[in-house]
Amino acid sequence: MAEDYLWWRDGIVYQVYPRSFADSNGDGIGDLAGITAKLDYLSDLGIDAIWLSPFYPSPDADFGYDISNYTDVDARFGTLADFDELIAQAHQRSMRVVLDMVLNHTSDQHPWFVESRASRDNPKRDWYIWRDPMPEGHPPTNWEASFGGKAWEFDPSTGQYYLHSFLKEQPDINWRNPEVREALLDVFRFWLKRGVDGFRLDVFNAFFKDERFRDNPSKFGLRGFDRQQHLYDMDQPEMVPLLQELRALLDSYPQRYAVGETYIATPEKITRYAGDDRLHAAFSFDFTSQNLIYPWNARYVLEQISRRDRIFDAAGIWPTTVMSNHDLPRAASRYASGENDQQAVIAMTLLLTLRGTPFMYYGEEIGMRDIALKRSEIMDPPGKKYWPIYKGRDGCRAPMQWSNAPFAGFSTGKPWLPVHPNFLRRNVAAQQADPNSLFHFTQQLITLRRKFAALRLGSFRVFFRADTGVLAFERQLDEERILVFINFTGFTRAASFVRDADPKLATMLLSNVGRKEFYTSYNQFVLNPYEVLLVQVNPQAAESM
Ligand code: NOJ
Ligand code: CA
Repeated sequence: MAEDYLWWRDGIVYQVYPRSFADSNGDGIGDLAGITAKLDYLSDLGIDAIWLSPFYPSPDADFGYDISNYTDVDARFGTLADFDELIAQAHQRSMRVVLDMVLNHTSDQHPWFVESRASRDNPKRDWYIWRDPMPEGHPPTNWEASFGGKAWEFDPSTGQYYLHSFLKEQPDINWRNPEVREALLDVFRFWLKRGVDGFRLDVFNAFFKDERFRDNPSKFGLRGFDRQQHLYDMDQPEMVPLLQELRALLDSYPQRYAVGETYIATPEKITRYAGDDRLHAAFSFDFTSQNLIYPWNARYVLEQISRRDRIFDAAGIWPTTVMSNHDLPRAASRYASGENDQQAVIAMTLLLTLRGTPFMYYGEEIGMRDIALKRSEIMDPPGKKYWPIYKGRDGCRAPMQWSNAPFAGFSTGKPWLPVHPNFLRRNVAAQQADPNSLFHFTQQLITLRRKFAALRLGSFRVFFRADTGVLAFERQLDEERILVFINFTGFTRAASFVRDADPKLATMLLSNVGRKEFYTSYNQFVLNPYEVLLVQVNPQAAESM
């Protein structure tokens, strides 16, 4: 029997990047009132929860991921009253709200850091990680910042270095200090009391650093940060008791949730951090790379699924599925060419039919593509620094494409990042009007996912050989059996069922090529190029097997 619907396990989480979702006052920056006005849209799409990237006061060295006040709303996004309204409106539509907690570092403009750097004997000095220089003035360790350069910044006025795992404008917090720990747990309490349902913890596994400040050993890699084994600047044992304390706090409220953004994620790492007495889930980012080692095809995707399922199932951890987010080129840009949505359909099918909580990124439902920027237009700090080797993350953060109105209906004023030029044809209104659009396909998949518990909670079994370019699997729960077929290739593919898996006849649920009937012949099933198909095995067929 299907267990009760648990929003964070069975539902779909939709990530909103507030700057880029909907602008209510024409200043070119999305805001909370804009999001509230779009809740009906999200609810119609079938979303269960929204995750809001940071909207707190921030000098925007890292566009909100450098927070200068944890318990307020940046004036550009609105007010706490707007936030309360957003929560109330979301809850009215049975939608949950997940906040982004960025607690590895603050902004260097946070009053805590302003005090901390004021003098060595300031009471807040120890709220951050300050160390004396090594002989000859060298930084205290060899640790590298993930956005480039050393992770230590020298502060001439007090003669010490402070640690920053990201930009120098993002000093790392000293979680070992009990006062800091309380202050940060209070941040959770503040938002929980306001009705927040869950949290996404930014790079949580970097909160603690080696107590003895040892140097990281080196390894092969391209950039400085990748040329180190991160033994001492993250994943310290102190993290687990902290997560347990946080979980106890969350569990003192009903149905609250926390998902960790695992820094340098692997499924193995996650088994340490997620579980019944720690995080509910942590991102493993199994499908977000595309390069020579990880080409986008049926075989690679299956390998990733199998690996993740093996490790997560053994540990009793519920997976998350992520295809896109605010740090990566969008899946549609990674895998699709031009405006053709065949690969976007495939990515969406995986997102919504694999075992695990789907995290959908705003605009993914209409196949938004990354924008291309000139060097002078780049906003993202690592993009400015590494251009042209790395152009930063602005590409995936372009304004949501609502309609063919000026600025794609995102704003009446010039948006903070340019709108993708394809907005005249690729937008929500156009896709809502087109029954063959990715939007409709997504909505139908979501409806099926809600209808069939097997698609949410069922077991996962592969019944074709993935080296044919086809990924075909069954999701089964009790009597309910749903088959999912995905042809990753542009060729017709005849594929053979493994023994006993041929259902012969099944009921059509969804086809992206207008297929009307499902039947197999001689244990084989023939798929059209890029065909995606969902069918339900009829109970009679199962009996006759
Ligand atoms: C991970 C976030 O996803 C990313 O956007 C941010 O720049 C870094 N953490 C630093 O907070
Ligand atoms: Ca605005």
